[in-house]
Amino acid sequence: MGADRAESGDTADPTFLLRHPTRFAILTTSMAIEYSNSRQITDAQFIDILKRSTLAERRPVNEPDRIQAMLRHCDILCTAWDGDKLIGVARSVTDFEYCCYLSDLAVDEAYQNQGIGKELIRQTQFQLGPKAFIVLLAAPKAEAYYPKIGFTPHNSAWILRP
Ligand SMILES: CC(C)(COP(=O)(O)OP(=O)(O)OC[C@H]1O[C@@H](n2cnc3c(N)ncnc32)[C@H](O)[C@@H]1OP(=O)(O)O)[C@@H](O)C(=O)NCCC(=O)NCCS
Repeated sequence: MGADRAESGDTADPTFLLRHPTRFAILTTSMAIEYSNSRQITDAQFIDILKRSTLAERRPVNEPDRIQAMLRHCDILCTAWDGDKLIGVARSVTDFEYCCYLSDLAVDEAYQNQGIGKELIRQTQFQLGPKAFIVLLAAPKAEAYYPKIGFTPHNSAWILRP
């Protein structure tokens, strides 16, 4: 029913904006920080936030084609802003209804531990169907982070390397 209303463009449905993020900019404010799920960022901005968070150590920031593809082909890009300064990003690949791979979560070191990472995950969840789950691979520096914010470990996750 909710989905039917959303498909027909019924914006009176309270879930409509959350389920159709690409059609509307959603900006919410928490302290002075603004969150967006529709604002585009450049490759240079993406590389810069990866560097400022330290995640650049583990991402292909010196391979422009891969960085470009990461931005162009992701399904959800949630960003956090302090004015015009990009201070956090959550980049995911998803089918929106079954699973969502949260590939990159990065918050500027100067802004860490203020709830921004947590909020970026919440903003990502807003765009998913109610049954979709989020999976991720924790960077070594963040292994203790995810259990703190509600993630549970999975002891049979596997990677097929190229
Ligand atoms: C990991 C990261 C995304 C967390 O974002 P953040 O905005 O700093 O974290 P939050 O403010 O949402 O933290 C929520 C809670 O987790 C704790 N926390 C934050 N970073 C943590 C870490 N690396 N390890 C363990 N706990 C952490 C916070 O102290 C806070 O605890 P509290 O609620 O008891 O105060 C951010 O620190 C970061 O970008 N790190 C470097 C890049 C990285 O490793 N990214 C993860 C890739 S998988």
